Amino acid sequence: MAMNKSHAPAAQKGVLGMLIDDHREAQQLFKDFKSARDDGRKAEIVRHTCTALTAHTKIEEEHFYPFLREADPDAFGSLLDEAEVEHASAKDLIAQLGAMNPGDALYDAHFTVLGEYTNHHIAEEEDELFRQVIEKEVDLRTLEKPMEDTKRRALAAKAPA
Ligand SMILES: [Fe+2]
Ligand SMILES: [Fe+2]
Repeated sequence: MAMNKSHAPAAQKGVLGMLIDDHREAQQLFKDFKSARDDGRKAEIVRHTCTALTAHTKIEEEHFYPFLREADPDAFGSLLDEAEVEHASAKDLIAQLGAMNPGDALYDAHFTVLGEYTNHHIAEEEDELFRQVIEKEVDLRTLEKPMEDTKRRALAAKAPA
């Protein structure tokens, strides 16, 4: 058992690290959009961001959130409820962007608002949710592999032909 125990911090680092890497990638893409000058580049950034965010929310909703809800409903329940509502807002904007082209009225505004929602959501996850996972030493060992598998499948399914 002692050996297993020594792996729990590594699993936390692995799982939270994977999610934090996704967060940083998304934040960088929203910054890149601000300096993009032509429509082709804008469309590329929007497509990349929406694919990455869709894979990320899927991993959280299929693995991370239900796992935490079961591990400690009192600690995580209301934070996770809010997170799911925030994901729903993001998905709605992603769906709308999927039907738009650069140059359309409100195209930039949709992506900018998606960035603002995403940054707010990331701050709440990292400052509240992840912090509590670390403080409560939640054992994430069983999550690491399924999360990696889901991410790989989600990104492969969305890869451009
Ligand atoms: Fe996240
Ligand atoms: Fe999230």
